[in-house]
Formats: sequence, structure tokens, C-alpha cells
Amino acid sequence: MLAELFLDASRACEAHSPLTRALLVAAAEDLARGGVTARVMAGAECDRHGTVPGLRFAGALHRLVLEGRAPALARHYPTVGGEPDFATLWDDALTVLHEQADELRALVTSTVVQTNEPGRSAPLFGGLHTATHLAADEAGRRARFPVRLLEVGASGGLNLRPHRVAYRVDGEVFGDPGSPFALDPGWTGRPPVDLRHDLRLVRRAGCDLDPVDVSTEDGRLHLSSFVWADQVNRFARLQAAIDLARLDPVPVRRATGPEWLAEQLAQPERDVLTVVWHSVVWQYASPADRAMGRAILADAAARATPVAPLALLVYEPRRTHAAGAYEFRLLLKLWPAGISLRLGTGAGHGVPFTWDTAPWD
Ligand SMILES: C[S@@+](CC[C@H](N)C(=O)[O-])C[C@H]1O[C@@H](n2cnc3c(N)ncnc32)[C@H](O)[C@@H]1O
Repeated sequence: MLAELFLDASRACEAHSPLTRALLVAAAEDLARGGVTARVMAGAECDRHGTVPGLRFAGALHRLVLEGRAPALARHYPTVGGEPDFATLWDDALTVLHEQADELRALVTSTVVQTNEPGRSAPLFGGLHTATHLAADEAGRRARFPVRLLEVGASGGLNLRPHRVAYRVDGEVFGDPGSPFALDPGWTGRPPVDLRHDLRLVRRAGCDLDPVDVSTEDGRLHLSSFVWADQVNRFARLQAAIDLARLDPVPVRRATGPEWLAEQLAQPERDVLTVVWHSVVWQYASPADRAMGRAILADAAARATPVAPLALLVYEPRRTHAAGAYEFRLLLKLWPAGISLRLGTGAGHGVPFTWDTAPWD
């Protein structure tokens, strides 16, 4: 039942967003008594857990606030300078729900929840430096390889320019000091290689089942609306990454990962390190896509040579021994060298992150 899915979503965001939690709890009660929320969610009554209807509802409200079309509610939203007043939040939400029910219903029914977290560029940046260093070592080259970066599940492609971000670490700046996107990666330790080397990304491409075009205002609003409205730092990070993406566009193709990878990896490329990267994608891929993805990568790995090396770099969650807890691990595999390393662990959004290299089997 929809009200129960709203309550599930409210529990899931309890630790991150008191504002969204309060909205979802009140909306679940309103749904149960057949209030205006039921009108807004008309057509979504049979939605399943995986389509997260509660988050689509919260995202639609956030979007109207960001567009300046819900002034009654905006005063509660930190992403537009407000501060939540939990005593009046739902009454103000009701005003917007009544005034804009049709618009909200259109948003909820046409939307797929979509996020893109540019904080994950920081582990990617350190991982790419490590991979290019190790690949050069294995090939007996002095100079590091330039990189061809292939991202599966790229969303808006915001992690396709990790070399163009200004990473501020203990008074030093790595990456591109002049970047409009400055990031404190919250590192404990450092990657096991010198980060002052040039990291050259000579080709970049991404695919996604539902790509977001961040060059458009619609794309910016779409991704922005799914950031918790009380996480202002994360929201600012997203805006800066979109600004950077607009200066340096990289297209994201609409395709499933394995289909696209098969095409991209058909021919080994000499004198570049080909890196396949994905972050927080694996859990969403179907079992068939996972199996096909593994087979395509194994095939490409078998064809890799010291002068046309291949790397897999991933940042994905892994359940820990503590009940319900996850850690996110940065893993690197390199062919033909046969190197397999865990480079470190970090938070879901890629910051903070602890560098700690160990074998990965
Ligand atoms: C949680 S988002 C992460 C986006 C991005 N990788 C990041 O770290 O910000 C997961 C993304 O994976 C995409 N996705 C899921 N299954 C996929 C598949 N089989 N092929 C391509 N993309 C997929 C989704 O559309 C979504 O954009």
C-alpha cells in the first residue's frame, strides 16, 4: 500500500533529512485518510517498493520549491535559504498540494528517481592515479599512460571529469586548482602514488539506462530535486559539478551497461590505459546484466596487453558484519598485470574517504 511505502521511505531518510521524513510521515497519514496526497499520487497506487513513490513525491515538491513555484513551502527548505518549522510545515505543504495537485501528479508519474554524486570523483581521482602508475610500472614505461575512461551507470556524467576538480587536501590542491568545482575530499591518508603527476584523460564516455542531460535546466532541476533539501553542502557540490560539466561537456549515451561496454571494448587501444568505472550501480543492475557485464570484461581482460592495458575501478557498497551497515570500497583490478587491490573505504557519497591499500581477492 502506498502509505506504507511512504513510511518505509520516511524511515530510510530519518538519519539524513528530518525535513523529508516529516513530509513523508504527514503525507502517509494524508494518503490513509484519502486527502489531497491521494490525488497527487493518482495512478501510482500500485507502485512497488523499487520505484520509491515517496521519494518521487518529495522530489516533486522540492522541484517546485527550486523553481520558485511554491513560495508557501520554500521558507522550510534550506536549499533555497529557508529553515524547517516543523509546527507549520505540513499546513504549508497542503497549500501547495491543493494549488498544484495536477502539476505535482504529472511530475510524480513522469519521474524516475535519479541521483548523481560528484563527491565520488575524489576516490576516482586517486584510483586513476594509482592505476596509471601501476600500469606504467608493469609495462616498464617511465611515463604514465593517458586514460580512456568508460563509465557505466553515469547518470548525468558528473564524475566524468575527475581531473578537472580542485581537491583541497591539508593545505595542498590537487587536480585543477582553477576549477569552478572545489572539493574537500575528507581524506585520511593518501593514495599510494604521487598525485602531482599529470593525469591525462584523452577519451571519456558514459552510458546509463536513464541519462540526465545536465546541460539543460530540466536536467539540473531533476538531479537537484533528489538531493535531500536539508543537505546544503551536498546541494552546493552538485551545483558546482554541473557548472563544471557545462564548461566541459561529455555525452552520456542511453544504453544498458553490458551492451555499451561490449561496443566500447571491442578493440583494445594501444598506448592508453582503458579504465571501466562504476559507482553505486551494481545493486541496480539485473542479474542478467551483471553476468553479461562480467563476461564482457573477462573477454576484454584476456585481450589486454602491457601496451594496451585494462583496469576496472569500482566504488560500491558492501554489507559489513554490523547489522544493516554498509561500507563503500574502492577496488582496482588491472590486466594483464593481474593486480587486484582494495584501495580504501569511504562514505556513500565518496567523502570522507580513508586510503588503505590491501590485496583484494
Ligand atoms: C545511484 S545512481 C549512481 C549514479 C552515478 N554512478 C554516481 O555515482 O553518482 C545508479 C545509476 O545506475 C544506472 N543503472 C542501473 N542499472 C543500469 C544498467 N544495467 N545499465 C546502465 N545503467 C544502469 C541508473 O539509471 C542510475 O543512473
